[in-house]
Amino acid sequence: MLRLAIAGVTGRMGRAVAELARADPAITLTGGLIRPEREGASDLLLPAGIQLTADALALLRESDVLIDFTQPPATARYARACAEAGCALVTGTTGLRDDQLDELRMASIRVPVLHASNFSLGIAVLRAVLPALVRALADWDVEIVEHHHRHKRDAPSGTALALVEAIRAGRPETSSPVVVGREGIAPRHPGEIGIHALRGGGEPGRHLVLLGSEDELLELSHRVHSRRAYAAGAIAAAKWLAGRAPGWYRIDDLLAERFGDLAPAVSD
Ligand SMILES: NC(=O)c1ccc[n+]([C@@H]2O[C@H](COP(=O)([O-])OP(=O)(O)OC[C@H]3O[C@@H](n4cnc5c(N)ncnc54)[C@H](OP(=O)(O)O)[C@@H]3O)[C@@H](O)[C@H]2O)c1
Repeated sequence: MLRLAIAGVTGRMGRAVAELARADPAITLTGGLIRPEREGASDLLLPAGIQLTADALALLRESDVLIDFTQPPATARYARACAEAGCALVTGTTGLRDDQLDELRMASIRVPVLHASNFSLGIAVLRAVLPALVRALADWDVEIVEHHHRHKRDAPSGTALALVEAIRAGRPETSSPVVVGREGIAPRHPGEIGIHALRGGGEPGRHLVLLGSEDELLELSHRVHSRRAYAAGAIAAAKWLAGRAPGWYRIDDLLAERFGDLAPAVSD
């Protein structure tokens, strides 16, 4: 039985993880982490029956894995708490700065840590095939369009940046600078990768990779219909990570075990 705690349990992703975890007979939900100022608040939107606490250490000491979908400062803080409590960490928080990623890497000296900017299977497979596609279409232009709901804070999305890494892995000999948005006199330079971030409505996540020559356009489009796609991936990662040795794990490691050759050739 996996003892699972959730950080960000009042949020969109945390609630999706909680719903799936509660229905999973292989999981005991030990509780949800909230900020101290929210303790006792009556307006929290939650699946029923989840114990809430701001005492991270106490909760993590009785949990095998923490699934975290919060914001970068909280993720860094929870990584330190996981290391201290001996609890594995699966986190999907995006927009982490280098120093915040360093906190996660520090924690991975003491506990297993897995960070992924996108837990959906479709995006994992897209990342896996992209290097081969851009290698075959070496001089085609590449642009990425991503669309997320109006509340998303970071731009471009962590997934768009992970797709850039997959494209660069397929064209290691080309310098592929990223251009975020275009405005005014802004001609396209060969090799550059354009990213365009749309924000609006309730869109849980849409990514489009355009590969174009003068005469053809190849479009690879991915859309999640619900956050369950991410939540299911995070729970699969938590089950896979529990009981492993301390270290830095990638979603690709899990996929390599499940799908062999299909596993992405680049790290996330
Ligand atoms: N990797 C993936 O597959 C994936 C998929 C979707 C989203 N994400 C990422 O996951 C993160 C959360 O997304 P979301 O849509 O669920 O956001 P959200 O609905 O705004 O929820 C954020 C949660 O984090 C909590 N939180 C924020 N700041 C905190 C702090 N300083 N201390 C403690 N708790 C804090 C919030 O608590 P309050 O209620 O107290 O504010 C809330 O529970 C974002 O970085 C998003 O980009 C990743």
